[in-house]
Amino acid sequence: MAEVGIDGMEIRTGKLQLDLAETFAPAQGDDPEKYTKGLGLFTSSFPDVYEDIVTMAANASRRLLDRKDISLEDIGRIDVATESAFDKSKPVSTYVAGCLEQVFEGDLHHANKGERKFACVAGTQALDDAYNWIRAGRNRGRKALVIATDTALYARDDAGEATQGAGAVAMVVDENPDLVTFSDQQGFGSADETDFLKPNQQFPSVDGKRSMQVYLARMREAMEDFERNGGDTHPDNFALIPFHTPFPGMVRRAAALGFRHCIRGNEVEEEVAEEIGRQPRQEEFDSHEAYLDAQKEYTETLTETDQYTDWYKQTIEPTLAISRYVGNWYTGSVHIARAAGMQEALDEGRDLTGKQLLIGSYGSGAQAEIHAETIQSGWEDEISQLNIDEQMEQRRDISFAEYERIHDAHNHDENREMDPLTTPDNEFVFDGWGRMGERK
Ligand code: HMG
Repeated sequence: MAEVGIDGMEIRTGKLQLDLAETFAPAQGDDPEKYTKGLGLFTSSFPDVYEDIVTMAANASRRLLDRKDISLEDIGRIDVATESAFDKSKPVSTYVAGCLEQVFEGDLHHANKGERKFACVAGTQALDDAYNWIRAGRNRGRKALVIATDTALYARDDAGEATQGAGAVAMVVDENPDLVTFSDQQGFGSADETDFLKPNQQFPSVDGKRSMQVYLARMREAMEDFERNGGDTHPDNFALIPFHTPFPGMVRRAAALGFRHCIRGNEVEEEVAEEIGRQPRQEEFDSHEAYLDAQKEYTETLTETDQYTDWYKQTIEPTLAISRYVGNWYTGSVHIARAAGMQEALDEGRDLTGKQLLIGSYGSGAQAEIHAETIQSGWEDEISQLNIDEQMEQRRDISFAEYERIHDAHNHDENREMDPLTTPDNEFVFDGWGRMGERK
């Protein structure tokens, strides 16, 4: 059976940019380094008034179909992953399909359309659905269009406000893909959690500190499940490890715990032990608290070793290059981390063909998923065609007063009559309900 995976991707950022150090921090009375050093974020992306989850998804998809010369007839399935949906009945994929039918020949009446929800992990779940659909042979030679799109907004003055972002990632899943293939090795960590939720409300109720603990606990479970399923997590196995990135500081923590886990019992732990001693074992301590304290101290020291810093520089740091400047995109976040890592590797002239990625996805509520991917020979061509750097450069920097207005404008789509801050250029725009996705 043919290998299945991601054949190509496109990324679309919101057209506005909020500078966290220059604009947001002074207005909040915060030290800019809380954001730039603490969270690891410099700017965030925002949608202009004529942009939303549909327009960003449709614009990313349009460029992907154009670039890969894919016709509507070639697509058998459209799945949109989002946690910013505005309609409890009609899936966002139908709106996106409607947009695409305006600009491509033919229609998408034959395509199965759906919407996937499980906080940020839904983007990866939708890829999984597409993979299973193709592997089951139900695709009749057709491809799946999988889109992760979100406007990740928090209530004003919520602790999460600095981590906001907006953007879409469109991916085509197909047989014999150009970018990466998926493996059957997968691990899950899932539990009923209430640290981040939006029950009939637009902005999340968040216990931020607890959400970080839940992220790490579920990620550890997923790693263990991946290993039980035959996955080998030795740190040398992976060229890049893209994690769900609500903000880079979260990944910094996950990476340290992940590395500690992955070296346990192997020669890397032995090498490190010569410098800093062996990892504490539960049985060596009288109380669990004492064991946890020793583990914390060991992890802090571990992150200062050459083994860790070299590994981090090579496999983690490159995956953060985009998210530092766009913020959290919820469902799209881990997919921009994959793209960022591969883009940085391309710039550095690293040859990734045949190498493995370990993808760590996460969604509040909560579920972590870990799987391996193999990079295909077409990766350089695919990644070199991304235009996310140009899009980021072209974003309009907004003042704090503009930020306040734009935040309101996207609050349940009230005040959408506000004048846009940028000019749309031959793209899908929100032009009023019932006229969704008209083209300028
Ligand atoms: P906070 O509590 O205001 O920030 O918000 P803080 O006081 O913890 O500071 C953040 C970091 O900056 C800390 O670093 C500080 O020490 C440091 P750390 O100790 O963690 O390494 N700091 C400074 N550094 C240098 N100079 C300074 C300075 N001041 C402070 N002057 C919080 C942080 C994460 C709570 C907040 O951003 C939040 O609530 N975010 C939203 C929730 C979130 O993103 N959670 C992440 C895990 S859950 C997840 O990823 C799922 C999600 O994507 C949703 C979904 O799945 O749908 C969110």
